[in-house]
Amino acid sequence: MMILLLMSILPIDGYSTNKDGWSVFYPERNICAVRGFSATLPCNYSYPQSGYKVVQKLWCSMDSNSKWCVKPPYVYDSTLNVTSDFVYGGDDKSNCTLFIQNVKFYYSGEYRFRFITDVTGGKWTGDPGVTLTVSDLKVELIRLSGNGTLKPGDSLNLTCHVYCTHSSSQTVWSKNNQNLDRSGPVLHFPSLTAEDSGNYTCTWNSSVSSGSDTISIYVEDSTIAGLKTSIFIIMLVVSGVILIGLVMAAIIYNLQRRKIKTPEENKGQSGEKTQTHLDQDQDQVPQPEVTYATLSIKTNKPPEKNVQDDQQDDSVIYSDIKLH
Ligand SMILES: *[C@@H]1O[C@H](CO)[C@@H](O)[C@H](O)[C@H]1NC(C)=O
Ligand SMILES: *[C@@H]1O[C@H](CO)[C@@H](O)[C@H](O)[C@H]1NC(C)=O
Ligand SMILES: *[C@@H]1O[C@H](CO)[C@@H](O)[C@H](O)[C@H]1NC(C)=O
Repeated sequence: MMILLLMSILPIDGYSTNKDGWSVFYPERNICAVRGFSATLPCNYSYPQSGYKVVQKLWCSMDSNSKWCVKPPYVYDSTLNVTSDFVYGGDDKSNCTLFIQNVKFYYSGEYRFRFITDVTGGKWTGDPGVTLTVSDLKVELIRLSGNGTLKPGDSLNLTCHVYCTHSSSQTVWSKNNQNLDRSGPVLHFPSLTAEDSGNYTCTWNSSVSSGSDTISIYVEDSTIAGLKTSIFIIMLVVSGVILIGLVMAAIIYNLQRRKIKTPEENKGQSGEKTQTHLDQDQDQVPQPEVTYATLSIKTNKPPEKNVQDDQQDDSVIYSDIKLH
């Protein structure tokens, strides 16, 4: 009678197995969960309360177990003190709810609840069980205009891809953790402004699971962008001027060097002519000295060679004249 009453109140997708007051009831038979988030597997059970005491509560997965889950393995066993992603949220009387934390893709599958009492034969498994489907949730940025960095005036869509479907589920958007008054999977920006910069979160909720994803968008401030462009142009001009200056300096330097090497070219320039003249003198002076030194040694050795002596004398005189 109690079960029939519950059945008429609760959603039609709920499922109950019962016989003579023994039952397991799953209010939600198909649950969609978002990977990395948590999910709840709601569950109620009953047994003839007088004379029975629940001694073991078990949850099993049809991926690793079968039928009534008579033998291990179990994802939850009340007699074992182990920590896992599967946490019992029920009690010893009527609540057999299972919480699943940090849901993984491979947690997808069917789960069943089994309970055992202290009376021989006093046990029950809720078959069929609850089916969990694990999906991803992702916010995608779709450019509708513009490319490169986001600039004011560009348009885009932020699309929340939720692959979970569940009656009574909803998608809501928030910006920098503040609720935006917008629901639905698409957030449309027809013309961006710098104020649109921020962290956008799409949150998907159902009565038994939830998930969210955040995307960060940055729209370049047009005044800052203008300032950057101005600075860039100024730097371009300045470096151009410096480059031209360097090239011109190099040309002038090269011209001057060429003028030094060919003295005929600067006859009109008195200042440079003097220097050229000095350079020429320095080049010519050592020549007679060298001649003098080598020749003077030779004159001491062979005294018969008078002609050479004369020549040597001449060169000495010549060098003296040139030096003084
Ligand atoms: C970026 O946009 C400009 C103007 O709209 C266009 O000319 C250019 O080809 C685009 N570049 C890319 C990589 O799409
Ligand atoms: C956006 O998120 C990043 C890191 O996730 C954080 O550093 C930044 O401060 C956030 N911006 C705003 C405006 O909250
Ligand atoms: C962008 O969002 C608008 C408004 O929701 C929609 O009409 C349009 O089809 C979307 N465009 C793309 C490419 O998703």
